[in-house]
Amino acid sequence: MTPALLATDLMRVYASPGGDVRACDGVSVEAHAGELLVVRGSSGAGKTTLLNLLGGLDRPDSGEIWIDGVAIGGLDDDALATLRRGGLAYIFQSFGLIPVLTAEENVEVPLRLERTDPIERDRRVAEALELVGLSDHAKQRPGELSGGQQQRVGIARALVTNPRILLADEPTAQLDSGTAATIMDLIASLVRERGIAAVVSTHDPVLVARADRVLELHDGRIIRSAHAHATDQSIEADDAPESDSEVGQQRGRHRSVD
Ligand SMILES: Nc1ncnc2c1ncn2[C@@H]1O[C@H](COP(=O)(O)OP(=O)(O)OP(=O)(O)O)[C@@H](O)[C@H]1O
Ligand SMILES: [Mg+2]
Repeated sequence: MTPALLATDLMRVYASPGGDVRACDGVSVEAHAGELLVVRGSSGAGKTTLLNLLGGLDRPDSGEIWIDGVAIGGLDDDALATLRRGGLAYIFQSFGLIPVLTAEENVEVPLRLERTDPIERDRRVAEALELVGLSDHAKQRPGELSGGQQQRVGIARALVTNPRILLADEPTAQLDSGTAATIMDLIASLVRERGIAAVVSTHDPVLVARADRVLELHDGRIIRSAHAHATDQSIEADDAPESDSEVGQQRGRHRSVD
């Protein structure tokens, strides 16, 4: 089966006064529909660099990325933007919402860019807000929502276009741990239900426990790649971040949305 997202031997070197920084140093990644990949690593390990390359926001110095079997290296910026709009969505650490727009208007933005028919647009916006449990908050602006609710608007906006690939760079870094667990639970279940291929950078144990594969980055390289089994919550790795029982407790506590 063609992977939704495939990257081979990605290199990205930044020139800096102290010498070249190999922010991405020969990384290969493969993500299939319905699969959740988690990228971990300390600050500066190269997580954001990798996600930006995978999403076509930045170009690698060498290596290639295929989205649904299409190599994006040969595409010009317009063709890449079209491909991104059609199949790829981002969830940002800082939510990235437009402050003057209501929750539903924020979710509507990508559909306006696609020039979706207004009746269809309203239906999909309402569906996306319901999916994240925010139907009753549709008319509120970001400043009138909690952090967790704002990130749920971000998730609704990402999913409203029915993406096949979801990329998220530390989507819960600005949330308290309880809210973060709820959001991670939501992302994990949406990935499964909708058959999305997802790559998420996080340290959150809830999502790490639910990942199919955990990639550990250090100095731009994958230093470890471990299978994780979402069903029994065990991680086939030597230094799993916490015990199964802790993860189980967290999941039990934060299973529901809201
Ligand atoms: N535009 C840039 N110019 C020069 N160096 C950069 C640039 N962007 C990132 N780097 C360097 O590349 C390396 C990887 O950075 P990156 O932002 O990908 O790390 P990260 O894992 O996302 O870190 P964090 O957890 O702090 O977000 C770092 O050493 C960083 O200083
Ligand atoms: Mg980062």
